[in-house]
Order: sequence, then C-alpha cells, then structure tokens
Amino acid sequence: MAPFISSLKAANGHRRIKPAYLRDINPENNKNADLIPQILSNDPDEFLFTAQHIFNLGWSEINWNLGCPSPMVTKKKRGSGLLPHQDRICRILDVVMARYPEQISIKTRLGLDSAAELYRLLPILDQYPLTEIIIHPRLGRQMYKGRADLEAFQNCRALTRHRLIYNGDITDQDSFMRIYQRLPGIQGVMLGRGLLADPFLPAGIKAGGLYLKSDSDRDILKTFLNDLLEQYQGRLSGDSHILGRLKGIWRYMAVLFENPAKIRKKITKTKSLNHYIEVVKMIFAEIPFSI
Ligand SMILES: Cc1cc2nc3c(=O)[nH]c(=O)nc-3n(C[C@H](O)[C@H](O)[C@H](O)COP(=O)(O)O)c2cc1C
Repeated sequence: MAPFISSLKAANGHRRIKPAYLRDINPENNKNADLIPQILSNDPDEFLFTAQHIFNLGWSEINWNLGCPSPMVTKKKRGSGLLPHQDRICRILDVVMARYPEQISIKTRLGLDSAAELYRLLPILDQYPLTEIIIHPRLGRQMYKGRADLEAFQNCRALTRHRLIYNGDITDQDSFMRIYQRLPGIQGVMLGRGLLADPFLPAGIKAGGLYLKSDSDRDILKTFLNDLLEQYQGRLSGDSHILGRLKGIWRYMAVLFENPAKIRKKITKTKSLNHYIEVVKMIFAEIPFSI
C-alpha cells in the first residue's frame, strides 16, 4: 500500500494533486508492485477527484485512510480524526461506493478516543461493498503508545461481514506467531514498521519461522540500500536531504544487525554522503545480522 495522498483546492476552485504524490503512484515507478494507492480525505468531492485520478492511472483498488493518528491530521477530521463522525463517513461512502463498488478498502484504528467508535461503525459498514477492512487496534490518541489491543480486534470480528485484516506490532517471526495464534482464522495481516526494519520478514513468515538470513540476503540488502541512495540522489538535492531519508530507514533497519544502538549512533553522526557510504561499508564488512 502506498502512503496516503490527497488533493488540494486552489483559490479558483480547481483541484490538483501534488506532483510528488503522483510520482509515488506512477505505474512507471512501481513496475514490480501490486500497489494499492491510499487516500486521506474527509470530503466526497475531494475523494472522487483523487480516486478518479488514481483509477485513470490503471490501479484497480484504493484504500481509504481512517487511521492516521497525527494531531495535524486528526484536528482537521481526517484519518482517525474522522472516526467519531459517522454521518460524515457514510456521506462520503454513499457517494464514492455508488461510483466504485468493490474497489475501495478501509484502513482504520479503533477510534480517535474510544473503541466504541469503531464498534458502532462496523455494522454500518456492512451495507457498503468494500473489498476489506484493515484494523490497527490502537486509538488515534494513543499514537504508538501501549500495545495493539488484540481483544478489541477480536471484538471487531463479530461486528462485520467484511474480510478483516490485522495490522500492528508484528516486528519479527515470533511476534507474528504470537499474534497469529491469538487470532485464529485471521484472513490476513499487514506489516508496517516491522517491514521497514526487516525486508526479509515476509519471507520468514512464509517459511514458518525457519528462515535464516544468508550471505546472498546481505548482498540483496546492500544493493537495496545502494539503489535507494542513487534514487534519492536523482530526486533530492543536497547531502542533508538525502541523508535525512537514509537515516530514517536506518533508524528502523539497525535492528537487523548486532548492537543496533551503536549502528544507529554511527549512521546518525554522518554529516556527508561520503561518510555515510564509508559507515555502511564498515557495517556490511564487520557486523553480523542479529536476526
Ligand atoms: C513513518 C510511518 C508512516 C506511516 N504512513 C502510513 C500511511 O501513509 N498510511 C497508512 O495507512 N499507515 C501509515 N502508517 C501506519 C502503519 O501502516 C501501521 O498501521 C502502523 O505503523 C502500525 O503497524 P506496525 O506496528 O506493523 O508498524 C505509517 C507508520 C509509520 C511509522
């Protein structure tokens, strides 16, 4: 799933989508990906405009973000900030689903302030032909504090006819197994931060916990990071912008290696791309994988 996008309305009433968003979901840039673009919106016209643009690019499904917990987003009644406003959610779905049945899914949290918000909403969503609902069982106000509430997720299963996908706190094969066993018969899971930290996590999960990373995985990871660096160099100008992005990835990925705190510190301290390249070379030459 691609990060959420939205459209802007200019003073003359015309809507447009930022070029950076369009680049993210351009099929040319996603050749090997079965991508589902995602929309952040609290308005039927805005949603339709953005959706039409996405479908015109050739994508077959769109996800609606009702989960984003960022206060900048929720205070505008977007993301999880829309969950207390069910009438508005239904007004949007009435319009959008009439045009795009079986082409929209929803990603949601339990509520902004209380799980009662989603418990109330789920039976109402039964009337709409959604493809699936992905639930990250935390409240918007929680941001990322506490743990994903598996019991609340189970409560949701009884309240909907839709295919439910679980999302939250799957960081490695053990946490996947723990969660999978607590949610018998679950139809699917979505990975978030765990995938940023360990791109081999899906392979591990598919192998049923028997996956040990090999030297060729190390090479794949090295190539991935090189590609990322080159792509950023082609798009962004100035070492500090490029380094900012790469440091963002390493904050998650450091756990792949032994002594992640030391690795994070070394990467964080790099001030130039040359220095960064040197540190990455050292990591791959000297530090074993931890997981
Ligand atoms: C940096 C960052 C950006 C995110 N952006 C999005 C987004 O654009 N759309 C979305 O649905 N979720 C987004 N999420 C939330 C994740 O999809 C996921 O719901 C959340 O991290 C919990 O799952 P996890 O514990 O597996 O990470 C983002 C999370 C992080 C940490």
